[in-house]
Amino acid sequence: MTTNTAADLNRRLAIAEFLNFEDVAEGFTVANVTTRHATARIALQGAHVMTYQPAGHPPLIWLSKFAKFAPGKSIRGGVPVCWPWFGPHASEAGFPGHGFARTVPWALTDARLLPDERLRLKFELIHSDATRAQWPHASNVKLIITVGPELEVALATTNTGSTPFELGQALHTYFEIGDIRKTTITGLENCDYLDKVGGTTRKTQQGAVSFTQETDRIYLGTRGHCEIHDPVLGRRIVITSTGSHSTIVWNPWTEKADKMGDFGTDGHLGMVCVETANAAEDVIQLAPGATHRMTAQYRSIKD
Ligand code: BG6
Repeated sequence: MTTNTAADLNRRLAIAEFLNFEDVAEGFTVANVTTRHATARIALQGAHVMTYQPAGHPPLIWLSKFAKFAPGKSIRGGVPVCWPWFGPHASEAGFPGHGFARTVPWALTDARLLPDERLRLKFELIHSDATRAQWPHASNVKLIITVGPELEVALATTNTGSTPFELGQALHTYFEIGDIRKTTITGLENCDYLDKVGGTTRKTQQGAVSFTQETDRIYLGTRGHCEIHDPVLGRRIVITSTGSHSTIVWNPWTEKADKMGDFGTDGHLGMVCVETANAAEDVIQLAPGATHRMTAQYRSIKD
C-alpha cells in the first residue's frame, strides 16, 4: 500500500537534487522542489502549492507567516484548490466553504523532470466515504503542477458516472505584493462583477482595479489574461488562464483579516488573491463522460 508519508514518497518518487519530501507536522507531508528555474513547496493535502519563487525574483506566491499545517485544516496562502463548489455550498450550510478538495489528501501519481528542467507533479484527489457524503457524483479530478520559470497549474475534472453534475471551482491563488494600497490589476476593465462586500450587488469595472478597503468580487465574462502591477516590489505578475470565464479578486482588509486569526497584524497588506474560477454564472454543467479543464499560468516580470 502506498501512503503520503515522506519516507514512502522519498522511496518512490524523489528525484536527486530536484525533488524530496518532508513531514512538516503529524500527517502533513510537503514536496520540496528545487531547479535552476525556481523553488516551490507543495503539500500532499489539497495538492496545495504553498510557495513558489522563480530564480532571481521575489516570491510570487504569498504564504501567511501564521498559516497552520495540520490534517483537515485549510492553509492560509499558497494555491488552495476550491472544488467541487466555490464559496458556500448551494444548499448545505454545514458543508465546508470552497468544497473539500483543499483539506483532503491527494495521491501523487507521477513526478518527473522535463528535458528543459521544469519539474512536473501529477496529483489525483483521493475520494473517501467522507467526500462521497458531500459529493455523491462519480468523478475523477486531477491536478498537474509544473514548476518552471512560470508556475503552471491545470485542474481536470471528468464525470465518470451516468448523470450530469454541476461543477464550481477556483484556483484560489494568493500573490505576494509589496503593498495592497499601491497595487493595481489590469485586464478586468469593463467586466461586470458581483460585489460581495455588504450584500451582493452587480457592478461594472471602470479602469484598473485598485484597493482602499475590503474587496471581494466575482468578475464575470473574464478573458483569460490579467496583470498585477506592483510598484513596491518593482514587478508585474502576469496571469493567463483557459477554461475559466470568472475571476475572483479578494483582499480581506484589516478587520476581517484580524478576525481570521491566521494573517498576523497587517498580513493582508502583502497579499492579493486573483482566482481563476468557474463560479457564479460560470459554473460548468458536466455531462457523463465529459472532462472540463481549467488552467492557470503565473509569471513574474521585473518592471
Ligand atoms: C474568497 C471569497 O474566494 O475566499 C471570500 O470570495 C472568502 O468571500 C475568501 O472570504 C477566503 O475564504 P476562506 O474559506 O479560505 O477563508
